[in-house]
Amino acid sequence: MTKNFNISLLAGDGIGPDVVGEAVNVLNAIEKVSDVKFNYTEGLIGGASIEEYGIPVTDETLEIANKADAIFLGAIGDFRFDQLDPAIRPEVALLKLRKSTGNFTNLRPTKVFDELVDKSPLRPERIKGVDIMIVRELVGGIYFGNPKGRVKDSDGEKGFNTMVYTASEVRRIAKIAFEIARKRNKKLCSVDKANVLAVSQLWRDVVIDVSSDYPDVELSHLYVDNAAMQLVLNPGQFDTIVTGNMFGDILSDEAAVLTGSIGMLPSACLGGEGPAIYEPVHGSAPDLTGQNVVNPIATILSAALMLKYSFNLNKEHDLIDNAVKAVLKEGYRTKDIATEGSKVVGTKEMGKLITKKVLEAANVTC
Ligand code: IPM
Ligand code: MG
Repeated sequence: MTKNFNISLLAGDGIGPDVVGEAVNVLNAIEKVSDVKFNYTEGLIGGASIEEYGIPVTDETLEIANKADAIFLGAIGDFRFDQLDPAIRPEVALLKLRKSTGNFTNLRPTKVFDELVDKSPLRPERIKGVDIMIVRELVGGIYFGNPKGRVKDSDGEKGFNTMVYTASEVRRIAKIAFEIARKRNKKLCSVDKANVLAVSQLWRDVVIDVSSDYPDVELSHLYVDNAAMQLVLNPGQFDTIVTGNMFGDILSDEAAVLTGSIGMLPSACLGGEGPAIYEPVHGSAPDLTGQNVVNPIATILSAALMLKYSFNLNKEHDLIDNAVKAVLKEGYRTKDIATEGSKVVGTKEMGKLITKKVLEAANVTC
């Protein structure tokens, strides 16, 4: 019997629709080779929603998204709206969506493809084989802490945010991170700023406490400044990293670019009551919109993660994963990952090549 899955499709801004379109093409191919059907409900988010409704996301869109089996997102952000009141900037939509689903775990796998070793800003011997899972806390910390705001008082104008974690918030993300590390190389590095921040001192104490349930996982701790440095000096030392919302935001971009291009990295937001969210790590790159130059692989791999984590379609996940590897192996590259001698293709061609490989692998012709 055909398995049906309902996907909330929020392509968003800039290159979001370009890359989401290619991921949907790949999912269409999966429908052809497997007894599954994906039903999409499209919605506007970010700048696209501001243009239509004057706000970055409507309650209705949030409600529809929360009823889906999974949420598939492109990118959010458009410099045309940078001057807007901060309360209605495009990015607010993403934070609202994350909070509304309760997905407190953001998985950002940073894996170096052998074929792309030469694209890394690091020397090949430093980067080859690197495979790091960043587990970022997503609905707490300084992104959401209160009080926050801007006020004018006798000292003049001031702006402030609050970096706050409760012990239970740290405990739940730490548990997930230990579970993940256990299935990987059993090494977990917790990143904080416990030499300065009280919130990090609590973070560290709780992570240590949780570690007693995971004696088989080797736990280490790094201050975030050192972690940023170690990622460049010796990324191979890391297996699983767990950290708070803002440190995770920063370190995941750094880790991503070490792999050669941020255009390669998928992500998943899980753990909440609501549906999981899948999105590429990269942003909306509005200046590249519609030019058929950006890399759709991060988004296509995010679709693969959706099949695995939300729909339990492991075989179909592997089909996409292998198709991406096969296309790279044949030397096809979008501009961001091209080196001398590569066959440079556009967004659409890359999508088509991967789609074709999925169909071929399942022995079906177009
Ligand atoms: C990310 C992005 C977002 C974040 C922005 C767009 C709100 O940078 O997903 O990493 O800071 O979480
Ligand atoms: Mg970011």
